[in-house]
Amino acid sequence: MNSKKREDASYENVTDQQLQEQLNYYRERAPEYDDWWYRRGAFHHGDEANRIWFDEISMVKVAFQAEHFQGDFLELAAGTGTWSCLFLKEARTLTIVDGSVEMLSHNPVVAEPKVRTIIADLFRWSPDQLYDSVAFTFWISHLPRERLGGFFSMVSRCLKPEGKMFFVDDREAAGTRESHVVRTSGQTMVRKLNNGDHAAIVKNFFSDKEIKQIAADAGIELHVRYTPTYFQYGIGSKTV
Ligand SMILES: C[S@@+](CC[C@H](N)C(=O)[O-])C[C@H]1O[C@@H](n2cnc3c(N)ncnc32)[C@H](O)[C@@H]1O
Repeated sequence: MNSKKREDASYENVTDQQLQEQLNYYRERAPEYDDWWYRRGAFHHGDEANRIWFDEISMVKVAFQAEHFQGDFLELAAGTGTWSCLFLKEARTLTIVDGSVEMLSHNPVVAEPKVRTIIADLFRWSPDQLYDSVAFTFWISHLPRERLGGFFSMVSRCLKPEGKMFFVDDREAAGTRESHVVRTSGQTMVRKLNNGDHAAIVKNFFSDKEIKQIAADAGIELHVRYTPTYFQYGIGSKTV
């Protein structure tokens, strides 16, 4: 394959079937998902690497907390709740949306009285109320490039005027080096589960420039920042 063809392949649109495979992957991965977050098992890369990981998570949490998010809070693709507890602390109410009952079954906030849980496919879902704050963690990289604009329009529709948004995700160098990555091609990454099964998911590493522009097109002013090794994160507010 010449380089022109490779370039074209990297922009091939993701099909609905691939998005379903991605969701199925998280259903299967649910019981082992938190090993990644807590750097356990195959994700334990030594004490020093782990210290850097946790220090950088703290940096992002401090940046989030400094913005005083509050009010009615919406978390998209909440999963096992690695961030939900922090969001709950700031929120008057917290609505969490995810397509996987299996991931949500590990999320501790589901049992909290001020939490509303919605099980839905985010590529079809639309909000039935407005929110002061919207967040999505480790989700933006799973969006097909051709759906990024539509997703940010949906986020904007969820927000009250001057409502705030937050996201965090992997930096490319860190996200492609994880032990569950088998190979990457175009928008696709093949990953393996502990039982040896392989699944293809969507994995994109959007630049700060492109995310900012797409957010701006959706009426959100977004500031995108990086921690030294692991994370990209963004904090923004709706401008209209
Ligand atoms: C990488 S995990 C992120 C979970 C959590 N936000 C975190 O930071 O650990 C991606 C999440 O997206 C959910 N998901 C995948 N496809 C989805 C879809 N089409 N609709 C709704 N949720 C989906 C998965 O179930 C999973 O919980």
